[in-house]
Amino acid sequence: MISIIGSGRVGASIAFLCVSNALDDVLLINRTKSKAIGESLDIANAIPSTSKFSIHGTDDYSQLTGSDIIVITASDKVYSKNRTENMMSQVIMIKEIAKKIKQYCPSAIILLVSNPLDILTYFFQKETGFPRFKVIGVASSLDSSRFRYFISEKFSVPQASVTNALVLGEHGDSMVPIFSGVYVNGNSLLSLIDNRDPITNDVRNYWKTLRNYKSRSQLGIAKNTYDVINTIINAKELLIPASVVLEGEYGENNVAMGVPVKINQNGISEIQKIELDGVESALLKESSNIISNYINYIKINSK
Ligand code: LAC
Repeated sequence: MISIIGSGRVGASIAFLCVSNALDDVLLINRTKSKAIGESLDIANAIPSTSKFSIHGTDDYSQLTGSDIIVITASDKVYSKNRTENMMSQVIMIKEIAKKIKQYCPSAIILLVSNPLDILTYFFQKETGFPRFKVIGVASSLDSSRFRYFISEKFSVPQASVTNALVLGEHGDSMVPIFSGVYVNGNSLLSLIDNRDPITNDVRNYWKTLRNYKSRSQLGIAKNTYDVINTIINAKELLIPASVVLEGEYGENNVAMGVPVKINQNGISEIQKIELDGVESALLKESSNIISNYINYIKINSK
């Protein structure tokens, strides 16, 4: 069973993809029970006639029992300027959710989607003590989709012509597009541009640009999360950047941030070490310092 905590736009879109592709049974949990039931009644009409699976909505966490995967999309408040805006209340929320998941479903694989993504991934793993490779923050793959999109638009080539467009680090203002490994129709991206800043700024500000036209991003993150769920349920293999608590990888400890990982049916199977150039290494260090500072601030101020 796939359980999704938070049945707003993002949670409902992930549920829709899981149900319409007949992946598994889906449980939607929302603090407002009627919202979870309403979304599940709508999505239930997308169950293929050949599917063995169903969807239900509830506000009762005890129904999490037996979940293989739990996706967390819940948000306490809407942020408008920065993803860290409501970090104190989001951390309180994630700790409460963590306690319930630990009680009802201690061996599930957890996918975090709520913001601030890296901070919540860190505090969820620390609160539960779950194996760090079973607590995955999904966001850097979304940022990478955006990086790939801008490169394809800039050179008027299909996205299939762009390889290895990765974004690492914070899912926030300090995220780091990795230009040095990208190829466009077989040519190194760095040989085609002379300044990394315009694309970097476009990728970092994508969510704000989108909000000039639509209330909030929804479908891109839903598809990126669905791909991870599909990998786990169908025992496939997926190489993406995702947030995970680091224990020495990329020189970092006591922080979670986006790094390249391999995902299989058990969660993350390995963190991959990729080559970065000097500029990228320095920016990644800066990004991890920014996340660490937030984490330390929250620890000091929540005592
Ligand atoms: C975004 C939200 C999901 O980047 O953080 O669109």
